[in-house]
Amino acid sequence: MRANLLILAGTTEATAFANAAAEAGLAGIVSFAGRVERPKRQPLPQRIGGFGGIAGLVAYLRAEKITHVIDATHPFAAQMSRNAVAACAEADVPLVALTRAPWAAQAGDNWTHVPDIAGAVAALNQPAKRIMLAVGRMHLSEFAPNPQHFYLLRLVDPPKDPPPFPDHHVLVSRGPFTEADDRALMQDHRIDLVVSKNAGGTGAYAKIAAARSLGLPVVMIDRPSLPERQEAHGAAQVMDWLGHSGVDLGV
Ligand SMILES: NC(=O)c1ccc[n+]([C@@H]2O[C@H](COP(=O)([O-])OP(=O)(O)OC[C@H]3O[C@@H](n4cnc5c(N)ncnc54)[C@H](OP(=O)(O)O)[C@@H]3O)[C@@H](O)[C@H]2O)c1
Repeated sequence: MRANLLILAGTTEATAFANAAAEAGLAGIVSFAGRVERPKRQPLPQRIGGFGGIAGLVAYLRAEKITHVIDATHPFAAQMSRNAVAACAEADVPLVALTRAPWAAQAGDNWTHVPDIAGAVAALNQPAKRIMLAVGRMHLSEFAPNPQHFYLLRLVDPPKDPPPFPDHHVLVSRGPFTEADDRALMQDHRIDLVVSKNAGGTGAYAKIAAARSLGLPVVMIDRPSLPERQEAHGAAQVMDWLGHSGVDLGV
């Protein structure tokens, strides 16, 4: 069977899988939401922008004759992942999620778990601190209730609107980052608290390791819950899944 893959992207894992798929001679398209101004170049054709909810994605799957969907979005891209589960069920297209395990606290970590962004905002209702806020630019406005803090913001693109808190410093950088660099960064800015999503994986872990080595507390935003779906860890497992579903991988 000749595959025509839809890869829901926006992560390093998605790019790695797209490379593996292209090397195996598979056809497909890589899809981005369009949040980042210059998405990483892909070895397969790409499209940018939402599908228009579940109905839009069902229509897209049918119109483009997609044979398999690989959901390699970020673990916090819950809406896209929920839509993919529902649309694939409706259009009868097999779906696999390319996921990474969440980070687990280890000796020396001082984490406070919160369930979502609102929980992180509530946790910051405290006297002024110097905070590294690593939540992405889409969520900055939600931190308006706590303008007393200094916020160090590391973002892929500069914020579109000025953040709603006066005391901040923006660093534009895409990563991956090293523990040593993040430790130096935290020391330079005299950071005393880190706020992070539990992204999992290696690319964003440096700040967590740096916080541990400096003895800094972390407000850890736990992952959103998602419907049950087939999962794979790594590009090789997705290739196995494709092979088992009858895709010709020897091209
Ligand atoms: N959330 C994070 O922390 C984070 C971090 C790093 C990278 N990213 C990447 O950034 C993108 C957006 O994240 P988000 O948290 O805003 O997602 P989200 O809340 O789950 O998605 C909101 C809407 O954006 C569209 N969308 C999301 N991902 C898409 C994709 N890969 N291709 C086409 N449309 C997409 C869909 O619109 P329609 O309903 O119109 O189809 C979706 O309903 C994702 O692709 C994700 O992998 C997110």
